[in-house]
Amino acid sequence: MNRELHFTQKLLAWHRNDNKRIMPWKGEKNAYKVWLSEIILQQTKVEQGLAYYLRFLETFPNLRDLAEAEEDEVLRLWQGLGYYSRARNLHFTAKEVQAKYGGIFPKSSTELIQLKGIGEYTAAAISSFVNKEPIAVVDGNVIRVLARYFRIQLPFDSAEGKNFFREKANHLIDQQNPDLYNQAIMDFGATICKPKNPDCAACPLMDSCLAKQDNLISELPLKTKKVAIKKRYFIALYIETSHGIALQKREEEDIWKGLYQLPSFELKAFTKNLELQVNEILKREFPAEHFKLIELGKMQKQKLSHREIQIVFVHLKSQNEQILSDSYIYTRNLAKFAFPKVFILYFQSKGII
Ligand code: ADE
Repeated sequence: MNRELHFTQKLLAWHRNDNKRIMPWKGEKNAYKVWLSEIILQQTKVEQGLAYYLRFLETFPNLRDLAEAEEDEVLRLWQGLGYYSRARNLHFTAKEVQAKYGGIFPKSSTELIQLKGIGEYTAAAISSFVNKEPIAVVDGNVIRVLARYFRIQLPFDSAEGKNFFREKANHLIDQQNPDLYNQAIMDFGATICKPKNPDCAACPLMDSCLAKQDNLISELPLKTKKVAIKKRYFIALYIETSHGIALQKREEEDIWKGLYQLPSFELKAFTKNLELQVNEILKREFPAEHFKLIELGKMQKQKLSHREIQIVFVHLKSQNEQILSDSYIYTRNLAKFAFPKVFILYFQSKGII
């Protein structure tokens, strides 16, 4: 048997006997549910994604329910998952499929990929799981498994590497059971051929794994670029007013678009004298208002994929009650709004949600 066929057969056999990860979307043939699970599971661990998947289905049992929802409600349900453009695209595409295709997802991956938020990976997942189209998914799990087993030393983020991995994956897929094959390789990457500390002792492919033979497991897959992490600095104001707490909606094309936040001001950097920086912001932004400083918080951090957000929360009470800004919303019920995680943690630390 050649190496490719051996790989596919062993993988399918492993999957038939693998009962470790019973998940509600496995074997699912409803395109709405498959799509929903795949969007949620991008950049999210299965353990965390599961609760969101179940909550979404409970709130929006079918595509029409999601299409007819308010964007704020969708973002509120998504809160905590990160990468909020996924939620906005999810909502956009629900409306589009409802309007353009009468609520039925197109069948082929070529048509699916036209939809917002559906890239090569998601299109392949939906069309193979739902319609058994023999097209391979290529995600981080798949790249890692293939790079190791076949000792592929091309960086997966180069043009050449991308093509190579895609072609290899499509060559390996089982034509009769593309759905099982795609599910198998993802589960295998997530539970056996893990990024760190792979479980080679339990691996049915260990004897013929080329990276294992050459002691290259921890070197593969290769990557060309190191993503630079940019730091951003914010002062966020928790302002008590007689109308409630002041909030802003993030409307710009930037991180956290569509979410709510406390009025926040970006700085080039924090200096040693934070209180002075806060006072400068208050004077500049609210010249007519007086504030009582209740608490100047410690710096908090939130890591995003290419950013590190550093944020200092300042608890203030407004004294002479000017209208602070026409663009603010005032609330006594913070739980109604979707916030970035660092804000939620702050509210929790203050015991206000
Ligand atoms: N990650 C993304 N999609 C998945 C799936 N269908 N099964 C397991 N992990 C996944």
